Amino acid sequence: MESYLKKEDPGIYKFISQETLRQARNLELIASENFVSEAILEAQGSVLTNKYAEGYPGKRYYGGCEFYDQIENLAIERCKKLFACEHVNVQPHSGTQANMAVYFAVLNPGDTIMGMHLSHGGHLSHGHPTSFSGKYFKPVPISVGRKTELIDYREARHLALKHKPKLIVAGSSSYSRIIDWAKFRKISDEISAYLMADIAHYAGLIATGIYPSPVPYADFVTTTTHKTLRGPRGGIIMCKKNHAHLVDRMIFPGTQGGPLMHVITAKAVALGEALRPEFIDYQKQVLKNARTLAQALKEKGYRIVSGGTDCHMFLVDLRKQKVTGSEAEKVLDKAGITVNKNSIPHDSEKPFITSGIRIGTPAVTTRKMKEKEMLKIAEFIHLALSNRKDEKSLANLKKKVYEFTHRFPLYPERIKNG
Ligand SMILES: Cc1ncc(COP(=O)(O)O)c(C=O)c1O
Repeated sequence: MESYLKKEDPGIYKFISQETLRQARNLELIASENFVSEAILEAQGSVLTNKYAEGYPGKRYYGGCEFYDQIENLAIERCKKLFACEHVNVQPHSGTQANMAVYFAVLNPGDTIMGMHLSHGGHLSHGHPTSFSGKYFKPVPISVGRKTELIDYREARHLALKHKPKLIVAGSSSYSRIIDWAKFRKISDEISAYLMADIAHYAGLIATGIYPSPVPYADFVTTTTHKTLRGPRGGIIMCKKNHAHLVDRMIFPGTQGGPLMHVITAKAVALGEALRPEFIDYQKQVLKNARTLAQALKEKGYRIVSGGTDCHMFLVDLRKQKVTGSEAEKVLDKAGITVNKNSIPHDSEKPFITSGIRIGTPAVTTRKMKEKEMLKIAEFIHLALSNRKDEKSLANLKKKVYEFTHRFPLYPERIKNG
């Protein structure tokens, strides 16, 4: 297809071409990223961006929404089927806004919330002081045990009984182990608190039964759609029927205006993809790849936080290698390997420096890489970090990484036409 952008705005066209090539060449190991299908890109890039559709299917504030109603209903039905949940709102623009809507739906400013501490796996929107969630609500942070690096449910219960949060957030951006949703439910019940599970990271694994589902336990389940779920950037809220009205009202008009209907359309396509049997195979491979890569790094002397992983990601503690997370991120980038620095539990380094990196396998698994490739990736990482002061070796390694990724094509048509 002819490119209009190439003619109309060659500068932007060039940046998009360069980014397409970067995604194809680099080894993408950021745990919160993935590569969507061409079908999702097509849906998101459609004329559905043109329309206002404030409200919900059958109850819009604008005319001409008949196709938008059908699309949004499809997205909702697919999500209900995938997660076996009672009520769904597919309109949140992001994971943070999904969380915000739940908080504002059931809390008042000044109420107490309890969630995992940022450096122990929590997300900014779980009560960090720099986020609205820590400014409007009183946060009680949960830590992981110093030795086990696992959630300490006894400590969590103790904190809950002491501070009586009105809502408990269970969920994480970097916790690689199984979260015991039933235990969080029990703690919430003891103090009559709401339980919100934020499954942004684990959604794809949960949808396919590879990671336990919080849906039977939580009052609210929020997620992003762009991580393991492999959809467009965005959020979703699931909840029990009795909270449906509160949630819907707090998304619109409470915290958002017009829904991004082109994104909701792309969410519908992604949820449709996630219902296919191939998606189960994909998620199984994501987990196998994460375990293989963690084990391979362990054998090269790297300490994996908590000793391993039960999901798509893990944290590597780099203190023994005497390299900080931020330095490792930069060095790996020079070798064409993309990761993010990440605090490890009880980190003594500042969040912008950190002692660790977070590694995830959703994106490389989308490229059809398997266990054999994970062993190679562990070698690349080790080579880059061991030769971090040697610019020439890093440049050579980058060439090898590019040769390696070339065998797993990504968006080949786009690259050919770019
Ligand atoms: C656990 C968790 N919740 C919420 C979010 C926020 O999502 P978004 O970036 O779409 O606001 C993230 C993002 O990384 C996350 O990891």
